[in-house]
Amino acid sequence: GCAAGGANTETESSAGTLLRSTANLPEPFTVPLPVPPVLEPVRTDATTDYYEITQRAAPVEILPGLRTTVWGYDGVFPGPTLESRRGRTTVVRQRNELGVPVAVHLHGGRTPPEHDGYPLDLVAPGAAREYVYPLDQPAATLWYHDHRADFTGPQVYRGLAGFHLHRDDEEDALPLPRGEREVPLMIADRSFAEDGSFAYPSTDPSLLGHPGVTRDFVSGVLGDCVLVNGAPWPVLEVAAARYRFRILNASNARRYRLALDPPGPGFVQIGSDQGLLAAPVAHDQLQIAQAERFDVVVDFSGYPPGEEVTLVNRLGEDGTARVMRFVVTHRAADDSAVPTRLADVRPLSRADAVAEREFTFRRGGAEQHGMTLWTVNGEPFGAGSVAAEPTLGSVELWRFRAQNVPHPVHVHLAPFQVLGAGRYTRGWKDTVDLASGDQAEVLVHFDGYRGKYVLHCHNLEHEDMMMMANFRVR
Ligand code: C2O
Ligand code: CU
Repeated sequence: GCAAGGANTETESSAGTLLRSTANLPEPFTVPLPVPPVLEPVRTDATTDYYEITQRAAPVEILPGLRTTVWGYDGVFPGPTLESRRGRTTVVRQRNELGVPVAVHLHGGRTPPEHDGYPLDLVAPGAAREYVYPLDQPAATLWYHDHRADFTGPQVYRGLAGFHLHRDDEEDALPLPRGEREVPLMIADRSFAEDGSFAYPSTDPSLLGHPGVTRDFVSGVLGDCVLVNGAPWPVLEVAAARYRFRILNASNARRYRLALDPPGPGFVQIGSDQGLLAAPVAHDQLQIAQAERFDVVVDFSGYPPGEEVTLVNRLGEDGTARVMRFVVTHRAADDSAVPTRLADVRPLSRADAVAEREFTFRRGGAEQHGMTLWTVNGEPFGAGSVAAEPTLGSVELWRFRAQNVPHPVHVHLAPFQVLGAGRYTRGWKDTVDLASGDQAEVLVHFDGYRGKYVLHCHNLEHEDMMMMANFRVR
């Protein structure tokens, strides 16, 4: 069952329905931060590493003393972390022991179309499928998650998301913090029913269209409890040294503006969605929309041992105004550094673009069961229509416009640079956040493969309500 009644909030930061947990939530900063296990290959050969993952339901303890049934990759949430290396192929055999169809998308991966997790390219219950990832691309913080058409929101909410860290020799040669001082942080808000189960509004399509049954949470599902790596408002003990945090916002509909309290030295951003920046950028706040990644270094040596440093969310209220806490326990040797030059990032310019296209993300243009859908250029998602046909190897200028509420726009396969990039949008990206009424121009490089891919809003409720379009690389 669901938690009791929601409140609709439509703000610049997050649009959606806030469900209040009826379960007892723990005191913040009492649960230790878990770090997802790194998956071992089942075999390797000269070119390829082979992995196996079983998707299944499993009871886990997220709230102390209560059981939450997750739908997890290998039964855990987040799923196990995959690590790959440029120059080697990764093959993941996904077995589906959930009672529903699934599709697995490697977000940010340059993958052949038949391995991209197209929303209608499903793995049936009881079936298995091999996804092949050549990943000829720079080191980056990627992530994998469910992508089933119409049901991505509920299936990710129940736990189908994990990290995929892609590495290369150039990055390895940098003196960045590593080992236990390199920590992935998956931030996701959730609400819990009294028995500890995840609260997500019903998505049973057979009920839609009946009097009184609406899907008006489609603006987005917002939780009142922030999980990091699957734990509520966790705490991590750190040495007074530099740490590298790979921050992912895996929330369905919530944006965050992260800051440290007390502020100390702030965040030094070293990477974006698609890998390292050319040079580090200092921030005292990080605005992060759904599916975006910020790869940052935090230097705790500026805090006295014993200091408690809280990662807060300046866009949140009540429970969502805090995320997690670091406790600086002791001084320690630290030979890491953040070099002033990180990677070769060739800047694209307008002149590189061989075509221009415009995509408007708004509510309207189509209806279903009496509800107004979320659309791209007024069209709901359909397998048969193709909105753009870029040529392999080319660069195009795509202009995204957002209406009604904010929309984080994600393009599969093809990395892009944001024209006139601001503080939060430097480097190669695959997701760009747009405030309502805003637009962004991005230069997209159609690198890798020919075939059919999607672009869509990464508010998962908007995506499920058809805010997605196809493009075909020729
Ligand atoms: Cu992260 Cu098409 O998705
Ligand atoms: Cu949207």
